[in-house]
Parts: sequence; structure tokens; C-alpha cells
Amino acid sequence: MVPRSPEETRSLFDEWALTYDDCVRQPCGPLEGYEHSLKEAAAMVPVEAGALLLDIGIGTGAFSAVFAQRGARVCGIDVSGQMLAKCHLNHPEFSLAEGSFESIPYPDEQFDVVVSSFSFHEVPPAARGAACAEAMRVLKPKGYVCLLDVMFASPEAVADARQVIGCYWDDDEDYPLVGDLDALLRLSGLCGVRWRQTAPWHWAVVGRRLT
Ligand SMILES: C[S@@+](CC[C@H](N)C(=O)[O-])C[C@H]1O[C@@H](n2cnc3c(N)ncnc32)[C@H](O)[C@@H]1O
Repeated sequence: MVPRSPEETRSLFDEWALTYDDCVRQPCGPLEGYEHSLKEAAAMVPVEAGALLLDIGIGTGAFSAVFAQRGARVCGIDVSGQMLAKCHLNHPEFSLAEGSFESIPYPDEQFDVVVSSFSFHEVPPAARGAACAEAMRVLKPKGYVCLLDVMFASPEAVADARQVIGCYWDDDEDYPLVGDLDALLRLSGLCGVRWRQTAPWHWAVVGRRLT
């Protein structure tokens, strides 16, 4: 598998931005269960009204919208200028900026909650440890992290999904394994880590930064 370059990823999502919302309304393949997963994952995070939340890879803003309904103040970053433009149209109240998992354009310990949906797998495997550490850097002590993505329990589960999903499987994607991400999150200082499978191909993880 040859990973996409950052430029290829950006232009892929720039081109997808206008039709993305329609596409995820009737998702097939790895995104099947998209809306249910957003709600299930969001329900795992205790968010108080007024909490400052960062959404990494915010896309058109659907995950953050669930938290905004509960009173969170949303900041979002994304590598795609066109996804950010569509997010601004959908949610003009969100504060948006270009940025990535690898480089978050905010100072240390800014956010009460850091979330991300269906974006973490875009980070190449070798960079995933640093991406977890970067997410923890901008989180306040006692803050919560929630990552939702297409993930799998084992290489065998990946092989099963590839067979079931068939022509909608995307060979360019390298989805995380639950155990690998669990280890990286714990290494980066996350505690009280809880996992939930939210759809056939989706897992959500929530944990807390203690210090
Ligand atoms: C499948 S979309 C998910 C968007 C949204 N979070 C959702 O749940 O619908 C993946 C998003 O991640 C963004 N992305 C890709 N690589 C990224 C990276 N390294 N850091 C942050 N965002 C990235 C893309 O531009 C795109 O908006």
C-alpha cells in the first residue's frame, strides 16, 4: 500500500467537500452507520455547557454539531480549505482554522475536550504516536479525548470487512487496529480509556488526561 501524500489528501477532500454531506447521509462501505456512530460516540463524552471543544479533521462539522447542541463552544481544524468552507456554511458559529493532527495551531492546555471523527486514519501509521501526543498537548488537565473512526479489532477483522464491503473497500486507507491505538493513547498519557463498537466497522474511544 502506497500512502497518499498530504497534498493528495488535501485535494481529495477539497474535491469531495460539496457532495460530502449528501454522501454520508446514505453511507455505504466503511462509513455505513455514520450518523448512529456520531451520536453513540458523542454520548460517551461528558461535555458541560460552555466547554471549549476542538474537533480535529472537522470536515463539514457533523460530529461537532452534536456537542454544540449540548452547549459546547466549537473550534475546528482541517487540512482541506474546501471542507472548512463547507463547515462554515453549515455552522457559521464555529471557529475554524487550517491545521492537522500533526500540527495543531493552538497553544498548550487550551481545550476541555478534543474530538475527531473518521479522520485519525488519515494520519500515516508511523506518525500516529506523535498525533496522539499533539492532541494531548492542547488538552487541559482533566480534559477528555474522543476518537471515532473506522477501526478493527484484529488483522482478521480487517480481512473479514474487506470481503463483506467488497467493491466499496478503499485500498488506499490504512485503518487503525484497536489494540495499537489503545497503546499509543496510554503512552501519550490518557487514562480511564473506554472503547465501544458503534457500528460494524466503527469504534470509539474516550479517555481523560489526568495531569
Ligand atoms: C472522512 S472526513 C471526516 C470529516 C468529519 N470529521 C466527519 O465525521 O464527517 C476526513 C477529514 O479529515 C481531514 N484530514 C485529512 N488528513 C488530516 C490530517 N492529517 N489532520 C487533520 N485532518 C485531516 C480531511 O480533510 C477530511 O475533512
